[in-house]
Parts: sequence; structure tokens; C-alpha cells
Amino acid sequence: MEPKKQTIIFVLIAVISTAAIAAGVTYVVLAPTPEGEFDALEIYHWWTSGGEAAAIGALVDEFESLYPDTTVQEVQIAGGGGFEMRVKIKTLMLAGQPPDTFQIHNGYEWTIFYEANLLNNIDHIWTTALQDAVPDVIEDISKGPDGHYYSVPVNIHRSNVLWCNYEILNDTGIDPATLTSWPAFWAACEAIIANPNYTITKPVAMGEQWTAAHAFEQILASVGIDAYEAWVNGDIDSGTATHYADLLTACEIYENLTNYINTDWAALSWDSAIAKLTAATPTAAFSIMGDWANGEFFQAGWDHGVEYTTIGVPGTGNMYGLVVDCFEKPKNIPHPSNVDRWLGVVASNAGQDAFNPLKGSISARVDANISKYGAYQKSAIADFNAIDASATSYMFPSVVHGSGAPEAFNSDFIPLIGALTAGSATAAGTATAIAALGVTHASDFTRVWSLD
Ligand code: GAL
Repeated sequence: MEPKKQTIIFVLIAVISTAAIAAGVTYVVLAPTPEGEFDALEIYHWWTSGGEAAAIGALVDEFESLYPDTTVQEVQIAGGGGFEMRVKIKTLMLAGQPPDTFQIHNGYEWTIFYEANLLNNIDHIWTTALQDAVPDVIEDISKGPDGHYYSVPVNIHRSNVLWCNYEILNDTGIDPATLTSWPAFWAACEAIIANPNYTITKPVAMGEQWTAAHAFEQILASVGIDAYEAWVNGDIDSGTATHYADLLTACEIYENLTNYINTDWAALSWDSAIAKLTAATPTAAFSIMGDWANGEFFQAGWDHGVEYTTIGVPGTGNMYGLVVDCFEKPKNIPHPSNVDRWLGVVASNAGQDAFNPLKGSISARVDANISKYGAYQKSAIADFNAIDASATSYMFPSVVHGSGAPEAFNSDFIPLIGALTAGSATAAGTATAIAALGVTHASDFTRVWSLD
């Protein structure tokens, strides 16, 4: 008789205390370690919202259906964007106690482990068939500077999405298709505030600091793909840099956006921000968020094109902001064979098509079974393919989500947008400070992006 398959979910809780804050973040393990289990696989991730948890659950189910003798241990560290989880992962990796595998953003974000020689080359996972199935831009960021593969993408998220409560827009007489510029968007916000059928004072739902920085990078893209390209190449590094004026314009647009966001933004997770749109009595009509938000609308039972709709963030309709999650194979791990199996499932059509329909992302493979995806993702797949085929539309890699620019740059950049959101910094001061980071981290920019 086969042993019963089982998934163990460990929940690591941040211990909030003065000491913990001073020392960083500490964690306690609430579940016991499984005893005597050899054939195990430990996976760290930060997918704990309703849609995220459903998606990783489906991927683990797919793995377990193929390898029922393996006990999968999911270690979840809550915190959207992975900012909490990566603290823990760095500690484990640099202490020589790597987990079998962990979620991370593809590209720059795993550079620290590559440079420390802590990742296995996984060229054997990247068969010719896989290379053919994955778009070049995603394949490229799965390689290290040595030309070998070190990660396997599990999805392609789109960052530059404006999520809309359709009922509120209809009731206010707003056609979302007209929201293609910031002036049009401000006018829509004012109209919603003035609509007597609602008591919405802050129509744009915003969450904690990283979601603010996320919104900012979409705004910078809206100012122009050339400006965004200069930014991710580290070229906006002074007040006289070619695209400094564009950076300043983005800061000014962002500052205006803060007039329309909820005052409790800093305390809200990204999914709590989305919940402002889906509440029985909604308190917001819009949110700028990556399409992991689609998983929350899906969990709420809302239909795209009926209760909610989406457009590109104003000024970015011809762009696709890239956020790519991936897994890898650290050196000196307890279950290397199982990690090979896991990466194989992640890379497979079956794995991608189990995970992504629930996650909100599209498959990282061009040969996905589109019939498994919902209305929002069908439109995203069409947009992605159109961008690949057009000379006047563009993809751009997210900095906040670890692919566009060095992680040290990102860590210093996000609080600057937090200060601008809180009103403790001006647009001009923020632009100056962001440009200064280009100097501070100049040597970390190892990739040259060509986005247009
Ligand atoms: C992103 C990640 C997504 C989603 C989101 C919110 O950084 O790439 O998969 O999880 O954070 O947690």
C-alpha cells in the first residue's frame, strides 16, 4: 500500500516586539518538524492571500499527483511582495541552511545567492522544448551572467493594471476605456467623489509602502518607455541626466495620486486594499495593482466585465509590466532529487495551467491551454502576444518586484515613495533622492535593458 500523501503547512509568524524590530524580524515555528520522513520537499513562499494560497495549493496538488510518496512541506511567510520572507531566506542561505527551494522574483533578486555561489546550475531542467516554450525575455532573466540557468519561472504577472469596480463606474457615467491619461483619471476620481449614490471620498485603494512604490513605477512607465529604460539601467543618476525631468514628472503625478488614496494605506496589506473595491459597501472604485489581484476578485466570485473590469494604468495601455515569480535549486539542500522533480512540475504545462488560472498571472509558456483561463487572463494573454508582435508597444521589468534593478537599489527606493505618499517628502526632493540612488548603487547595475 502506498503511504498516504500529505502536505504539511508551516506558518511562520513575525514576532512583533521591540527587540524583534530592532534586530530585524524573528519567527517562531508553530508546527512540529515531521519525524523520520526522508522523502520530503520543503518549499518556502509568501502566497497566503485567498487567491495566492489557492494557486500554490493547486501546484502542490499537481506535484503530489505525480509523486504521492513525497511529503511536501510548505513554509509560508506572510507579507505581500515577499519582503518579510526574503529576510528569512537570506538568513538561512547565508548561514548554510538552505531550504530545498523557495519562491523569489526572477533576475536581480536572486543575484546575491548566485554571487555567493549558493545556487545550482539547472541547465538539465531547461530542455530545448522548455527553451522554445518560454518567451525570450523571461528565459533571459532565468540565466546567470555565466550563461547557465538558475531559475524556473512559474508565471508572468502584469504590473500595470488599473482595477475598477464596474458598478460604481457605470453609476457615475465613466467609460473605463476613456481613462487613458492622468487628467482623465483625476476627472473620474472627482466624479466618483461627487456621486451622491456613494460616500466615497478616496476612490483609489492603496496598501502598504511597497504597493505605493508599485504604483509609482507604473506612473514612471506612463511618462515614457525611454525614461523607464534609463531608470532600470541606472542612467537617471543626477539632476542633469537625460530623463531626470521625466522622473520629476512621475513624482509630481504620483503626488497628485496621493490626494485620492485612503488615509490608512500604510497599515493595509495589498489584498485588504483590493477588498475596498469588493466590499458589500465599497469604499474605493480603483486600485493600481499587479494581476495577482485577479485571484482576489476570483475568490470573491466576481466576473470580469460584469462586477469588475480592468484597463492598463493610464498612459501604459501599450505596455506590459513584467513580474515573474520563480523557483531555484540551492546547493547543499536535503532533497535535491525532489527539487528536480518540483522544478519539472513548475516548468510543465500541467503545473503552469494548474497554478496560473487561480493566481491571476498568465503561463510562462506560450503553449498554455488557454481554455483553462478566465476572461481577465484571456485578455492579458492577447495583450502579451500583441506586445510581442508590435513595434510600438513595450514590456518593462518591475523594480519593486525584483527583476528590473538591483535589490539594494530597490530597498532604498521603496521608502522614498513611502515618504512621498505620507507627505513627508516633496516631489522634487523625491526625484533628487531617487537619482542619488543611481550613484550609490551604480556598480550593482549589471544588466542593460533595451525596452523599445
Ligand atoms: C508579488 C509576487 C506575486 C504576488 C504579489 C503579492 O511580488 O510576484 O506573485 O504574490 O507579490 O504578494
